[in-house]
Amino acid sequence: MSVTTELRTTLRVFDENQPAAPLREVTAGDEIARELAAVGVRFERWNTDAQLAPGADAAAILDAYRSSVERIQRDGGYETVDVLQLAKGTPNTEPIRKKFLDEHSHTEDEVRFFVAGSGSFYLRLNGHVYQAICVRGDLLSVPAGTRHWFDMGPDPEFTAIRWFNNQTGWVPQFTGDPIAARFPRYE
Ligand SMILES: [Fe+2]
Repeated sequence: MSVTTELRTTLRVFDENQPAAPLREVTAGDEIARELAAVGVRFERWNTDAQLAPGADAAAILDAYRSSVERIQRDGGYETVDVLQLAKGTPNTEPIRKKFLDEHSHTEDEVRFFVAGSGSFYLRLNGHVYQAICVRGDLLSVPAGTRHWFDMGPDPEFTAIRWFNNQTGWVPQFTGDPIAARFPRYE
């Protein structure tokens, strides 16, 4: 049994041909935001003081973060917002995990705020792979057309706010490049 939780926001920057070791690793939120902004990716750390009752529903979660949620929605011109929850110990999550483990892109932005739990994004930009391990309080926006993959780990646990332009159109377009298999998984 493996210990999965790495509960600190971490950005690892790899040469895309050198998956064995990152060129650098950054954990300060403002530095991560700077690194990612330099390649056109939005990253923010939000204040998580909002009081949420255990088991809070989507409406309560969206209400707790209302002003920031609306700001992101305005900035990106997103039409809809929802909340996706995946509880620890949910059976048969392996197919869900696998679905996003291969390199793909979308025709719209992939925008996620972690209300709870964690997950690891891998963004391929300018000959580098940016592994962004996101935890509670992190917002990441993967721009439309960006090659990336996402690993929720072997026993996924997260609650995420998601923004969409067209929810039905949000499907992965796989590149067929096996690069993701060469990089460390999130586990
Ligand atoms: Fe994706």
